[in-house]
This record gives sequence, C-alpha cells and structure tokens, in this order.
Amino acid sequence: MLLPCRALVSRALTTPPPLPPPLSTPPQPPSWSSANFWNSYYDRKAGAASFDWFTDDAALLQRIATATSPPNSNTPLSVLHIGAGTSSLAELLHASLPPNSTLVHTDFSPTAIAALTARLDATLDATLCAKHQVVQADIRTATLAAFNQTAPFDVIVDKGTLDVFVHAHSDPCFAQTLATLHELLSPTGRYIMATNDEPELRFDMLLKHGGNLFDLSTMTIQNLSDDDVEISLLTLKPKAA
Ligand SMILES: C[S@@+](CC[C@H](N)C(=O)[O-])C[C@H]1O[C@@H](n2cnc3c(N)ncnc32)[C@H](O)[C@@H]1O
Repeated sequence: MLLPCRALVSRALTTPPPLPPPLSTPPQPPSWSSANFWNSYYDRKAGAASFDWFTDDAALLQRIATATSPPNSNTPLSVLHIGAGTSSLAELLHASLPPNSTLVHTDFSPTAIAALTARLDATLDATLCAKHQVVQADIRTATLAAFNQTAPFDVIVDKGTLDVFVHAHSDPCFAQTLATLHELLSPTGRYIMATNDEPELRFDMLLKHGGNLFDLSTMTIQNLSDDDVEISLLTLKPKAA
C-alpha cells in the first residue's frame, strides 16, 4: 500500500492553489478601423470571388454605379473607388463609365486587393472597360502619387467605407479620411457615398470634420432603399476655395 508523503500532504494543506495567470489585456470589441480586422475578415472569405457589404443586389449596385456618371455624357471621368474590398460594384463601375475614363479601385487589405485584381483580370472585357488599376493604400493618408495620378479625381465613390469610421466612433479616422479625400478630389468633383445607415447618423461628424472642406449646404441624399435593404446615396461637393 502506498502511503502519502508527509511533506507533500502538509504542503497541499498549507499552500493555496496557484491562481490562473492574469489576462494581459481584457477582450476587446473588433476594431473596424484597424487593418488587422479587415485583413482577417478577407482572409476568412478567401476563395469567394466577391463579397458585398449590405447588398449584392445587382439592380441596386447598378444605381450606385450609374450615379458616378452624369446622364448622357461622353466626357471621360477619373474615378476613385475607395474601400473597394471585393465588391461586384467594381465591374458595374467599369461598364457605366464613359469611354476612355480611368478607374482606380483601392483598399488597404492585401487579400482583398489580390482577390479583386485576379477577378477583374479574369472577367473584364478589355474592349468595354475603362482603363483601370487596383491599388493597395490606406485611404486615411493616401496621395495622388499612390494612385499614379497627376490630376485630382472627378469622382470618389464609396460603398460602406466611411461607415467603418462612423461605426468605430473614430473621429480621428473620419476626419483624416475626409481631409485626404478633399485633397484627392478635383474642386469641381463629387464624393459619393452609399450607406445603409440613416444619413442623419453622420451629420454631426460631417459638420464637425468636413464643414470646412465640403459644401454641406449642397449635399444631396438619394434614397435607393427597396423592400430588403435601406440604402442612401450621399453626394458631397468640395467647398469653393
Ligand atoms: C464595410 S467594407 C465595404 C467593402 C465594399 N465597399 C463593399 O461594399 O462590399 C469597408 C471596406 O473598407 C476598407 N477599409 C477600411 N479602412 C480602410 C482604410 N483606412 N484604407 C483603405 N481601406 C479601408 C476595408 O478593408 C473594407 O474593404
């Protein structure tokens, strides 16, 4: 018969059990404005040809694409599509722009950029499409040079991208992005954002951080909602210098 060792028994009675190691940082909610969040988001979706935030309805996406070009105009446009992800808005923008337009899709996720590049290379009809690039860049700090562009863009189009900073309650990112977009946009250009938020939710942030950059008195809001999804299209013009 095995007898317990006296020393161990007396230690077990006098020494409290060890505490679990302390958590170095308490669990955090996902940070929508961080590159890590979006990189792992697209890594998890790797293999899917496209993924669309809040709607992939072709008719709704087409209405967003159509809004980038003035009706019945054949004047070429330069267009920047920010936070493009792998949205199928990309192809619709190509098909909607006047001939000889230039179109740049950008996002800071390398996974999204690689997936979108592969998809457009495989599917775009070169005879129909605008000249295009897909560029990895952080829209908070991007410059025209990052997009190999010498002149500012005529149109910046955003589906759900400024939303990220609204939802993250990140005033610094929101402010930085608006200032950058203002730099990237022609003084006669338009910044079009599609959101499924109530437009009013961002009025305070727009006024606080964009009031000196964009002419908010001429902002238009178009309601594209249908039975399934609420979508608004907000169009901002830069303030005259
Ligand atoms: C809500 S998703 C929308 C994606 C796409 N436009 C769509 O409709 O499916 C926001 C996108 O913005 C990108 N993004 C977030 N912060 C960014 C930043 N600072 N610079 C560039 N892209 C950013 C994310 O990687 C993501 O693709």
